[in-house]
Amino acid sequence: MWTRHLSNADETQSLGRAIGKLAGHGTVVALVGDLGAGKTTLAQGVGDGLGVGTPIVSPTFILLAEYEDGRVPLLHGDTYRLEEVELEGIGLEETIECWPGVVLLEWADRFPDLLPSDHLQVCLQHLDDGRVVIIKAMGPKHETLLKQLMELANE
Ligand SMILES: Nc1ncnc2c1ncn2[C@@H]1O[C@H](COP(=O)(O)OP(=O)(O)OP(=O)(O)O)[C@@H](O)[C@H]1O
Ligand SMILES: [Mg+2]
Repeated sequence: MWTRHLSNADETQSLGRAIGKLAGHGTVVALVGDLGAGKTTLAQGVGDGLGVGTPIVSPTFILLAEYEDGRVPLLHGDTYRLEEVELEGIGLEETIECWPGVVLLEWADRFPDLLPSDHLQVCLQHLDDGRVVIIKAMGPKHETLLKQLMELANE
């Protein structure tokens, strides 16, 4: 587990950028946090780190966005407006499972079974002076990614 203070949106983006640089095929990131915690901001950084040129926007109303112009394809989802009953028919779980690149999911905690068990959990919380982020590796594959991320931050 790794905890960091993020004083402003630029620092949230920078953290995302570092994740994006290390991410590859099979990287899955659960973005957790209240309304306005900074999930999309972090996702924008990930896109930047992956070399995505298209501006990354909030997927709250579009549910899923695909960005194919980076180093590996990026799938950016948001389950905030998704109801349990809707989940059945849309094949979101299969789309995530078969995605040939990086997956980011906002409000991932609303449907804990949607993501593969091995993923990186990034939890953002409001503070009076910015945000605190708590990053946990849920499985061996993402344990490696988290170690690399911590090393990168120490450089
Ligand atoms: N570390 C930070 N300190 C202060 N403000 C921040 C920080 N990180 C992001 N923000 C700001 O918080 C606001 C909300 O960010 P963002 O849209 O990324 O949140 P979100 O978690 O995706 O929201 P939603 O729940 O609506 O999807 C933005 O104005 C963003 O610039
Ligand atoms: Mg958002």
